[in-house]
Amino acid sequence: MWFPRVGSQVALLAAAGALASASSFKNGEYDYIIVGGGPAGIITAERFIEAGKNVLLLEQGTGPTVATGANETLPWNRTLTSIDLPGLSADVGSLDVWDEYLCSDTEGYAACVLGGGVTINYMVFVHPPEHDFDDNTNWPEGWKWKDLKPAADRLYERNPGTTLPSADSKRYDQGLYSVLSNFFSNLGWTAVDMITQPNEKYQVYSHPAWNIKNQVRAGPVRTYLPLAQQSRKFSLSLNTKVIRLVREGSQVTGVEVQTASGKTEIVTLAHNGRVVLAGGALGTPRVLFNSGIGPKRQIETAKKSGIEVPPKHEWINLPVGVGLKDHPIFTIMAQTPGDFGIPDYDSILNGSDTKDISLYRKSDGLLTQGKHRMIFFSSNEINGTTRYYQGSCAPSAGSVLDITTYMTHGATSSGVLGIDKNQKTVIEKSPYLQTAGDRVAARSFIQSLIDDFNAPSSGFELETYTNVSSIISTLSPGMHYTSTAKMGTDDGRKGGSSVVDVNTKVYGMDNLFVVDGSIHPDLPTGNIQTTIMVIAEAAAARILAQE
Ligand SMILES: Cc1cc2nc3c(=O)[nH]c(=O)nc-3n(C[C@H](O)[C@H](O)[C@H](O)COP(=O)(O)OP(=O)(O)OC[C@H]3O[C@@H](n4cnc5c(N)ncnc54)[C@H](O)[C@@H]3O)c2cc1C
Ligand SMILES: *[C@@H]1O[C@H](CO)[C@@H](O)[C@H](O)[C@H]1NC(C)=O
Ligand SMILES: *[C@@H]1O[C@H](CO)[C@@H](O)[C@H](O)[C@H]1NC(C)=O
Ligand SMILES: *[C@@H]1O[C@H](CO)[C@@H](O)[C@H](O)[C@H]1NC(C)=O
Ligand SMILES: *[C@@H]1O[C@H](CO)[C@@H](O)[C@H](O)[C@H]1NC(C)=O
Ligand SMILES: *[C@@H]1O[C@H](CO)[C@@H](O)[C@H](O)[C@H]1NC(C)=O
Repeated sequence: MWFPRVGSQVALLAAAGALASASSFKNGEYDYIIVGGGPAGIITAERFIEAGKNVLLLEQGTGPTVATGANETLPWNRTLTSIDLPGLSADVGSLDVWDEYLCSDTEGYAACVLGGGVTINYMVFVHPPEHDFDDNTNWPEGWKWKDLKPAADRLYERNPGTTLPSADSKRYDQGLYSVLSNFFSNLGWTAVDMITQPNEKYQVYSHPAWNIKNQVRAGPVRTYLPLAQQSRKFSLSLNTKVIRLVREGSQVTGVEVQTASGKTEIVTLAHNGRVVLAGGALGTPRVLFNSGIGPKRQIETAKKSGIEVPPKHEWINLPVGVGLKDHPIFTIMAQTPGDFGIPDYDSILNGSDTKDISLYRKSDGLLTQGKHRMIFFSSNEINGTTRYYQGSCAPSAGSVLDITTYMTHGATSSGVLGIDKNQKTVIEKSPYLQTAGDRVAARSFIQSLIDDFNAPSSGFELETYTNVSSIISTLSPGMHYTSTAKMGTDDGRKGGSSVVDVNTKVYGMDNLFVVDGSIHPDLPTGNIQTTIMVIAEAAAARILAQE
């Protein structure tokens, strides 16, 4: 047993031209290689470790917390980085680490850092409503809410989210919530708790639920990874980008990686080992294209870019990248009667905001909170199709209210993700407002908000974008990409739309799985991260059950 394995390892390393330096990987020993250390990859890896497997987690980025190797800490607390501090998430795009962590190898927005998008996102944590899984007749059997609820419960036990992050159970800076809740309740909308009442999604508003625990940014880097790291069977390799799978027909035998030094080498699986792709909805398709899996045209481009794709007879024609979905965002701004006072982020960073920092040292105050002050949900119906909307409301300069309005579940548009000759994934067709139904519904919902804001008694005055057309023209990416390697029973090789089956296994492959935002076959009603974590919990269990 031992000799042949080493023999093949040497042959593979030689093939990769990496014989000169010894590999730091335990080739031939991994039951599971997981590609991508975002939320889905970390959760999956940790559950496999609990099942006693030997697991290698590969992440192309660095670690964003002190525990995972980051060394750029806040000057006033050497155990915290800027992304840990909830109060700085409101201004995350201005942080030094933003450019460092944002992926440069894809169009759209994704983070190439351990923790993936959850490391740099706005922390809005929307527990999915049951209807996200139950109202679509095409939804695959085995993935209805009754099947997913145990997975959601497992997630919430470790990573519950909170609407009340400050240890003193007080909410800070409530001026915006106060004027807006008054406005919505006058319209007949209802105040709910979006964590305990996740199914209430029509004309409701809530204090925001955030991915915060113990006054720092939560997420799998904090709530799952340390559990995996207690096991000697767990290996994490940062700064390691997977270029392609090494295939023998329908079997994956290993992955080709590029390490920090720029060298490539091949890491091999154990006999009967498996690979799980968890590179995110924008990242996983590249690995599939490079491995001869996807539309012919994309595989040909991957080949032209210099990747050693498998011989043509091994290509698997699946609709990878087709069906890309995302929430479109429309920006609404209004002058309000309030005065909100935006924190001075530089002073928080450099330690001179002693008032907020001393509160934070007691685990209290504004810095324990995220960006938004209210989240609202509603829906409208056009010709029998219900579409949902989310409004994430944040104060901006002075007394200005800034609403990020998403069109969510029920939207019928989709786009196409492909790859270019430089190995960059590209959005070939926009996923936004492609259908007449979506356009009509968006205009109708926005017009109703405009009418409400313009009512003389509202106290608000729309600013900058004051009519439907100008608000629609603010369209920007929701960054909640999904459905690029869609799950379903209609096998994509036979003209169907699905890339993975209900066990998340890629059609036509024996030991290749996808677990991340790519497989979710529809848009969720709210921000997507919680849904992706729930799916990862469910998928890990299904994969283990199929051994
Ligand atoms: C700026 C921003 C703000 C957002 N705000 C919110 C929010 O407030 N609430 C919310 O719910 N959602 C939000 N999202 C979306 C959410 O963060 C993502 O949907 C979620 O992180 C996706 O999880 P994932 O596991 O599918 O993939 P990702 O988070 O994209 O993780 C994929 C990981 O795999 C790694 N990877 C990819 N390819 C390879 C490869 N070939 N080799 C090695 N590693 C690889 C990447 O570096 C990354 O770490 C936001 C996203 C962004 C970008
Ligand atoms: C901090 O981390 C970076 C990136 O990991 C590394 O290049 C640098 O040498 C480290 N600096 C110190 C002072 O340790
Ligand atoms: C830094 O922050 C951590 C986490 O909130 C806390 O436990 C620690 O006491 C803080 N250290 C200092 C010096 O304030
Ligand atoms: C911190 O930043 C604030 C705001 O930019 C600035 O006024 C202050 O001088 C800075 N303090 C230090 C110590 O750098
Ligand atoms: C709604 O249905 C009517 C009547 O069938 C049709 O004329 C109209 O185009 C439809 N609108 C949309 C947005 O599909
Ligand atoms: C909408 O507002 C824009 C300016 O923001 C203006 O140019 C345009 O004419 C307005 N359209 C209508 C239909 O009023």
